[in-house]
Formats: sequence, structure tokens, C-alpha cells
Amino acid sequence: MMTATHPKILCVGMICVDELLYCKSYPIEDSDQRILDRQQRTGGNAANSCAVLAELKVKCDLLGTLSSNSRYTSFVKEDLGSYGLSCDLCELIEGQELPISTCIINAENGTRTILHYRKDWPEASYEAFLKIDLSQYSWIHFEGRNIDEVKKMIKRIVEWNNEHAEGYGITISIEVEKKRDNLLELIPLGDLVIISKDFARLQGFNTMSQAVDGLFGLLKHGATLVVPWGEDGAAAKGPEGFFLVPACPPERVLDTLGAGDTFCAALLSALSGGRPLQRSLRYACEVAGAKVGMHGYRGLRDVLRERRITVDH
Ligand code: FRU
Repeated sequence: MMTATHPKILCVGMICVDELLYCKSYPIEDSDQRILDRQQRTGGNAANSCAVLAELKVKCDLLGTLSSNSRYTSFVKEDLGSYGLSCDLCELIEGQELPISTCIINAENGTRTILHYRKDWPEASYEAFLKIDLSQYSWIHFEGRNIDEVKKMIKRIVEWNNEHAEGYGITISIEVEKKRDNLLELIPLGDLVIISKDFARLQGFNTMSQAVDGLFGLLKHGATLVVPWGEDGAAAKGPEGFFLVPACPPERVLDTLGAGDTFCAALLSALSGGRPLQRSLRYACEVAGAKVGMHGYRGLRDVLRERRITVDH
């Protein structure tokens, strides 16, 4: 995998608003319960990963779509701005409201149940991508959605790498998370491919080792596959070898919303900084473990410090 010493990462994917309802226990249908707390946060895999990268002090930008005339857009801009993140690259959509997720967080075990509303909300277009100055980035991460446009974006990066890269090119990573038409077509296009447990299971794999064995052949030569598997940890296979690392759960799991996005961000942060695959995988599990022990992402840096989690130990 290509790496640069001073990485800047671009995350391409979704931005939405998460409405979190912290409940004593998971609600029973047609019941009435008073909830413990309520919060509004920016959500969406790409936005969440950027928030985590910012907490890890890794330079990053976000490309997604925002509504041109919505109060939620001001909220998202302010919220992400408080992490030092800008929405300047984002494409503005007229006349539609941002997607909203209502997320039930069960205080008993930290599970998150997401009810997502998006109507016909569009994803970032190839045209928006073309406006980006690629020389700014050492790494571009895609959420596996909007497949046809993402394929064109990746083709553009490959051309750019061929034209410009002297020694280093832009590394391409792709997250394959949910079942979508033609999603498998993205797998051979990434230098790093992260395949979720849910997606791997849908493909018929019951353990992370089986998933790595069964899916690695879909990747291009020299690429790396990473399969996070919740409480079981994560597995990876690439030119450096095959690795399994355990999960690092906190004493109490409080909030698992965005745990996968946190894992991706920490993995990218370590790999883009040139760390070996095995160390990067362990770090991603450690950071994701720290995250699920707290609400949201803000202050993750301090939790990592308290738990003495660093990318280099
Ligand atoms: C977490 C998340 C939430 C969002 C949902 C969309 O991974 O990005 O922030 O509401 O997934 O599917």
C-alpha cells in the first residue's frame, strides 16, 4: 500500500442528522417510556469518520451533500466546524431536506437501532468530485454507495495517480457495509477494502477468518482486505500477511452508534501514517473499543489518552 508521511484524507459519503434517543431499555412495541436523554448530532459514515479523524488530529476533508435551504445544514456546519472540519467541498442540494436518522440507544447494552429517513436524497456527484484539487490528498476513502458515480471518481484518481504521482499516489479505500446493487463491483478497485460483518454474513460467511478467505480473491493484486467483526475483533489480509486481533471492549458499552465508522477512521489514520497492517488493525480495535464506552465522538482524544492508547505502542 502506498503511504505518505504527511497524510490528508478525503472522505466521500453521507452526511445526515442523527436524532439520538437514549432509552433505559429497548422499547416494547406500542408502549410508553420516558427516555433518559435526547441529543442531536451530525451523522452519516463519512461525517462520523471525519469527526473521529479530527479527534485523532489527522487532517481530513469531507465530500457529501447538504441541503441549500435547511436549518439542519447550519446545525451540521456548526457541529462539524467545532471539530475544525469544513463543509466547503460539499455539494448543495436545493429544495430537499437532509436525511435524518432516529437512533434508539439502549442504555442496558449500548446497542443502536437506526430508523433512517432519506426519501430521494442524492449523493455527491462526479461533477462535485471533479472540482476537488486531488493534489491535496494522500488518501481518499469511499463509502460503498452511489456505485456508478464512485466508480467514475475512482477512475479519475487512478488517472491522476498515473499522471502525477512521483513515488506516491493517492491510496483508495472503500467501505463495503450494506447490501446494495452492484456493490461487489467496487471491491477490485480499492487498495484497502473494509467489508462489514453484516455484508460478509450476507455473502454466507459466519466467521471473520472465513470471510477473509472467501472474499480476498475479489480484491486486486497487492490490495488489503479488512473485516471487522464486532466483539470478536477484526481480521486482515494483505501483502504483509494475515492477522487476527481481538476486540478491546470498555468496562461498560454505552453507545455503539458509529463504532464501525470509528474503526475505519482509526485504521485509515494509522495506515496513512505508514504504520504496519497488524499494528493499524489493533489500533482500530482499540479506538473503536474506547468509542463505544462513551457517548458520541467528542472527547475521544482524552479517553484515548486516559486509556493510554496510542498508534505507536
Ligand atoms: C452510523 C451511521 C449514522 C447514520 C446511519 C446511516 O454508522 O452513519 O450516523 O444515521 O449510520 O445509515
